[in-house]
Amino acid sequence: MIKNNRIVIIGAGAVGCSYAYALLQQGLTGEIVLIDVNEEKAAGEAGDLRDAVPFAPVPVTIRSGGYEDCSEAELVVITAGLAQKPGETRLDLLTKNADIFERIVTEVMAHGFNGIFLAATNPVDILTDITQQVSGLPAERVIGSGTVLDSARLQSVVSACFHIDSRDVHAWIIGEHGDTSLPVWSSAFAGMKDIRTMAAEEGQQLDSIFQRVQSAAYEIIQQKGATHFGIGMSLARITRAIVHDENAVLPVSARLNGEYGENGIYIGVPAVIGRTGIRSVMDLPLDETETQQFAHSAQTLRESKQTLSY
Ligand code: 2OP
Repeated sequence: MIKNNRIVIIGAGAVGCSYAYALLQQGLTGEIVLIDVNEEKAAGEAGDLRDAVPFAPVPVTIRSGGYEDCSEAELVVITAGLAQKPGETRLDLLTKNADIFERIVTEVMAHGFNGIFLAATNPVDILTDITQQVSGLPAERVIGSGTVLDSARLQSVVSACFHIDSRDVHAWIIGEHGDTSLPVWSSAFAGMKDIRTMAAEEGQQLDSIFQRVQSAAYEIIQQKGATHFGIGMSLARITRAIVHDENAVLPVSARLNGEYGENGIYIGVPAVIGRTGIRSVMDLPLDETETQQFAHSAQTLRESKQTLSY
């Protein structure tokens, strides 16, 4: 593990702070810097997190800071921007969050950043794309949280339905982190058993399992106003793959270069993640329905992005 790597988190709201807390608990970094337009909030959150350091597995420096801190950062993680309100879709946030991202990424780059960007704000696929375009960094060093959280939700629901530990559920969601995402049932296994076979044997409806996953964020936002623990842990999982150079396969938002028949768009797909960012995109064989659903998801993202001037 590489120690004392600095991680800068831009956005000290619930997502940024849940992520910082996960980093701290998991001992993933030696230094965390929080940046927020509300400097007092960033300072307060950093102070609160510092109180937890004596209980952390490794020493960590935590403070609030400014864009000048990005020059020495290994990883800049952007969680800033507007979040969904009840009834809003992720794509509804595009225009406002695209402006916010353009300003943030420009500032980060103006201060000499040369590490890896990780974006979490919605709509995450398009905002990751904008981050890459505005920064000019190689696409492998610009990563979005993609469908890591959606896949974790799928693993949880499958785990509950089939009474199998979620860590043994190898079932993924790909596509837009949003309403057009899709489950890849054709490559989904519990242990080594095909989940479609298990569903048929046990009378489980895979469509209703996916429906529960798709509605999870809407339901939580209706109930408590926001989601942040799941995405915080998802970002920490991606960070672990980077700082430990794991070559872990995770369904992040990555730019496609011919894989899945698509070019030049960021979308959730399984990718190999290590110290240098995205090492490669894994081109899964999809069945006919999944191929159509993926093409629809990619087209939705492409059309949304075209409404902007990037
Ligand atoms: C989530 O899926 C809202 O994108 C956020 O929890």
